[in-house]
Amino acid sequence: MQLEIRHLLGLEGVSREDITLILDTAESFKKVLERPIPKVPTLRGKTVANLFFEPSTRTRFSFELAEKRVSADTVNFSASTSSVLKGETLKDTARNIEAMKIDFVVMRHSAPGAPHFLARCLNSVIINAGDGAHEHPTQALLDMMTMREQFTSLEGLKVIVVGDIEHSRVARSNIYGLVTMGAHVGVCGPATMIPRQMEDLGVTVYPAIEDALAEADVLNILRIQLERQKQALFPSLREYRNLFGITLERLDRTGRDIMIMHPGPINRGVELDSNVADGDYSVILDQVTNGVAVRMAVLYLLGGERQKLEGDDHAA
Ligand code: CP
Repeated sequence: MQLEIRHLLGLEGVSREDITLILDTAESFKKVLERPIPKVPTLRGKTVANLFFEPSTRTRFSFELAEKRVSADTVNFSASTSSVLKGETLKDTARNIEAMKIDFVVMRHSAPGAPHFLARCLNSVIINAGDGAHEHPTQALLDMMTMREQFTSLEGLKVIVVGDIEHSRVARSNIYGLVTMGAHVGVCGPATMIPRQMEDLGVTVYPAIEDALAEADVLNILRIQLERQKQALFPSLREYRNLFGITLERLDRTGRDIMIMHPGPINRGVELDSNVADGDYSVILDQVTNGVAVRMAVLYLLGGERQKLEGDDHAA
């Protein structure tokens, strides 16, 4: 089986078959990660450049680990210590790195569309690790993998994304991916943070958190991104917590077993209370674990390798 896509720039327009293939492959790689030597030689001889122009903890570590687990060579770029500070353009930076013979670029950038631009100027495979408020496809894939582990299928699953939808690349990629996979997707948050075209994407808007809690199988809670807001979109963090914060009391009142997800980093005590983030409803650390397997699968499938995952060819 091969992917139809050549790059992973976003989940908009990615087929159900491609998403299923990535998730199935990630499940196989998760088994590799549970072996005493959690490594396969699949991408031996290939080189990945990690270009992070924005801060990251989870995504950056997860990609670096995934690359090591599939035996790729890696080089890491950080904007704060590069010639970008001397005025070098994104295109020049990327073309110079590619001239050193790399095969993949994993990029996080504050500008929406930056990875799409690179895909037009480079020959390497481009993987979007988050572009501004646009998309974060591997985050949505690891979210879907985590949901599938608990619910077996995404078809008909009710997933409600809570928070700052307008500024969230995680929300956008979740919506595209989950709608394609047949889930019922909702969003909930202050009206000032919900983009207008939500219904056109097949998404239900829940203005009140109580209505979302009454229906959701899964709540994917977003971080309030104060750094991306150009103006105050709600009166105070305290008011946000009172209206939309996920507390243990709110969850317990429903009498339902709702799966709680968060892409991180968490504003504890704002969008999510600590006793929920660290408690029985939460699968937040499972999401992080699954991120490595998903990124191994994406690298493997986009790397053009077609060997079977199981068997001697992949033993470390
Ligand atoms: N979920 C996520 O993208 O986290 P980082 O910003 O730490 O990579």
